[in-house]
Amino acid sequence: MSTVLDVEKTIDQWNEVFTDNARKPLRDLSQYSTGTLEWLMMEHFQFSFRNTKFLWDAAETTGGFDVEGVKKELVRNFKEESGHAALYKAALNKVGCDVEARAEFQPTSHFLDTLGGVCKGEPSFVLGAMFATETAAIFEHQVFRDVSVEVIARRGSGDLGKPLVAFHDLHLDGVEQSHKDELGIFLRGIYGDQAIAEREGVRPTIVPKQALEGGRIAIDLMREWWDNLFAEMKNKEKAAVAASA
Ligand SMILES: [Fe+2]
Ligand SMILES: [Fe+2]
Repeated sequence: MSTVLDVEKTIDQWNEVFTDNARKPLRDLSQYSTGTLEWLMMEHFQFSFRNTKFLWDAAETTGGFDVEGVKKELVRNFKEESGHAALYKAALNKVGCDVEARAEFQPTSHFLDTLGGVCKGEPSFVLGAMFATETAAIFEHQVFRDVSVEVIARRGSGDLGKPLVAFHDLHLDGVEQSHKDELGIFLRGIYGDQAIAEREGVRPTIVPKQALEGGRIAIDLMREWWDNLFAEMKNKEKAAVAASA
């Protein structure tokens, strides 16, 4: 018996496959040097830095729907995220991690530039993509909380590390879950085999196939980015071993 999932659950499931895999290389952090973990945090900061622009652009684009619910939710999300990059940067600084000293990592630029383009697509497509990124945000804050705790312990940062852990806790304490759920509402009970899901209550007229496509593309982009991050982490560890040999 096959169960047909609605658009919300389908994207959720794709996301789960992606995040389950992406958690694996981060299960044992002892295999990475502190410098490599610090590098990973600085790459994640780049997403935080660009996030409000993505949300703003996506809000503008989804203003093209026949009702404003999606736009309103993205504006709410935008307001909530405003100032977070500065908080994150200051918290990283306290544990000795200077994001200004970072050298560009091309796959991160490619990921962020491509996602920036995605936010300007067709409204249903943008809704699916933003839902996918908000779903993955929970995973990101979980793994980066662990990475933070590890770096703080190794550095002996003590209380100076508190704002960094608090930054991730803030997001895990309902913020990201609500970003996900509040967008999920619009994708609930609509199915990929419907040519069009007619407007109903707060939900605008949506093209389910486009929403699925947006979710798919966002998850593929995130997976590709993380694969590149993990490959680079391996390279860094190999280079360190070679240098010490
Ligand atoms: Fe945030
Ligand atoms: Fe979020």
